Amino acid sequence: MSDRSRIDEYWESPDTISLLDKNLRKLETDFVLSQINASDDLADFGCGDGESTVHYAAKVRSCLALEHSNNLRSKAAERFAAASLTNLKLVGGDALDLSAYRKQFDVVVSQRLVINFMTWEEQQQVLENIRSTLRPNGRYVMIENTFEGFEAMNEVRRAVGLSNIPLHWHNYFLDYDRLVQFLEGKFTVEKTHTFDLYYLLTRVFVNMFAKFEGYGGKAVKDDIFNVADAAARRLYELIGERVKVTVPKGNSFGPIQGFVLRRVD
Ligand SMILES: C[S@@+](CC[C@H](N)C(=O)[O-])C[C@H]1O[C@@H](n2cnc3c(N)ncnc32)[C@H](O)[C@@H]1O
Repeated sequence: MSDRSRIDEYWESPDTISLLDKNLRKLETDFVLSQINASDDLADFGCGDGESTVHYAAKVRSCLALEHSNNLRSKAAERFAAASLTNLKLVGGDALDLSAYRKQFDVVVSQRLVINFMTWEEQQQVLENIRSTLRPNGRYVMIENTFEGFEAMNEVRRAVGLSNIPLHWHNYFLDYDRLVQFLEGKFTVEKTHTFDLYYLLTRVFVNMFAKFEGYGGKAVKDDIFNVADAAARRLYELIGERVKVTVPKGNSFGPIQGFVLRRVD
């Protein structure tokens, strides 16, 4: 079975959870919300079950939610129906072919979509496709994971005697330098955003005295994570922008980071 088919199968499984950490999702979503405007026509490619998308749709003029998995698309449909938003359209589709949407959007969002493509060639194709759907001068708010941020976090975990958080089989994180080089001439990087303090507290500090094992729906964790993650988010919301961890490469402590990219023609 090819990587693509295995990944499709993974996202069709009813047990698959996109992001277990609801506090991190809120931080991601709030960052995207801070970058979008009421006059925007927005697309959320790989919207999953639409947990973040409903918040974007509530803020913008129009929202297209595209999702490849039938299972997640049907969950998104239920969520969108309950939200009763009239400016939100849900479609099936594949990020490897976005030719139906050329120059249609002011803003495109991808939230941990590109990392589901297991080669840099496919990832570049997805990034090119996303660019093609933007109007001239449009913005791409990209929430994706880098190897460098992931490794910076694991390096500190190892230093305090914790094991690495493993890279899950269906993810291929972006190489920061290669990404930045690829973006040249296609996008300007207007902003980068990281979650350093949140990652330090929740992926290192709390783990020094509490147990978190496994991944996604199969994770087994001590109850303290429920309160500790919420407290870490609160602290991040208050002072997160001021707390930056120095990292050897890239610019993030922790894998997920935000980039605001403006289309260049
Ligand atoms: C990590 S999940 C993120 C979902 C959503 N953005 C969120 O924040 O919850 C990755 C999403 O990418 C979708 N995806 C995977 N391959 C895709 C493809 N070829 N085209 C469009 N979406 C795809 C998956 O089905 C899944 O919904």
